[in-house]
Amino acid sequence: MEIVKSKEQMKAISRGFKKEGYRIGFVPTMGYLHEGHLSLIRLAKCKSDRTVVSIFVNPLQFGPNEDFQAYPRDLERDIPLLEKEGVDILFVPEVEDIYPADYQTYVEVTHLSSGLCGAFRSGHFKGVATILLKLFNIVKPDLAVFGEKDYQQIRVVEQMVKDLDLDMEILRHPIVREEDGLAMSSRNTYLSSEERRSALSLYQALKFVERLILGGERDLTKIRELTKEYIESFPHTKVQYVEIVHPHTLQSVEEIRGPVLVALAVFVGKTRLIDNKIIDL
Ligand code: PAJ
Repeated sequence: MEIVKSKEQMKAISRGFKKEGYRIGFVPTMGYLHEGHLSLIRLAKCKSDRTVVSIFVNPLQFGPNEDFQAYPRDLERDIPLLEKEGVDILFVPEVEDIYPADYQTYVEVTHLSSGLCGAFRSGHFKGVATILLKLFNIVKPDLAVFGEKDYQQIRVVEQMVKDLDLDMEILRHPIVREEDGLAMSSRNTYLSSEERRSALSLYQALKFVERLILGGERDLTKIRELTKEYIESFPHTKVQYVEIVHPHTLQSVEEIRGPVLVALAVFVGKTRLIDNKIIDL
């Protein structure tokens, strides 16, 4: 595996791959890799001829009171995991190279970014869309893989690719979970053992909502309130939102008629966790 720091070198490698007629598969990450990331990489690898993974903790998508500094970083641990998967190129740019002092251009996917996490993390999806467009321009992938764990992020990227006529495909990978159901996340490392037990409330709440809806409950206010109560019956939990939205537009539904996306954000201690599930009627 070649480790590339400079964006000019990354562009040159991608130009070379294109010249050879190779399909480039890309998985952007912020590192501290787990099985969720590795599953995305396996999908990218089987759909392409050359696989590029990026590790870049993007300052632009973190709010002033969020965990940019504390975000876990361990390249020494990540590199062998990527080598084992047969990744061709690891792209690890520096913040100064990506956002030089005179940087001033941003991408905003307006409607899809406004609700759910966007309502609480102002500027987050603008930061995500901007870094992804930059990475796509540098890596020039034919396809990029994203996890449904960050459902709103996938919808934002899909919309950006469509709106800006990017010549590439976005593939979705289902949420990868721990054996007990907790969605894998680099942020799970922040949890104490007691908090780890409470973190399971998210997955269990999603199953709880599914039982309610499939059992015939249609009162959306009641479903959201019961779910909040359910989650907060676990110690150290504080619900940020429980939303029931249309899986494509991410707008709140007024009644449940077709499939809906149930999305949760919950603080477990100081750690903010998200999870979601599509409930298909
Ligand atoms: P990061 O949180 O490192 O996630 C990288 C990719 O892995 C994303 O597509 C995310 O949805 C996926 N992923 C994380 N946990 C997963 C899980 N348990 N199951 C399935 N997929 C999972 O998301 C980001 O980084 C950044 O916002 C990024 C896209 C790199 C832009 O900076």
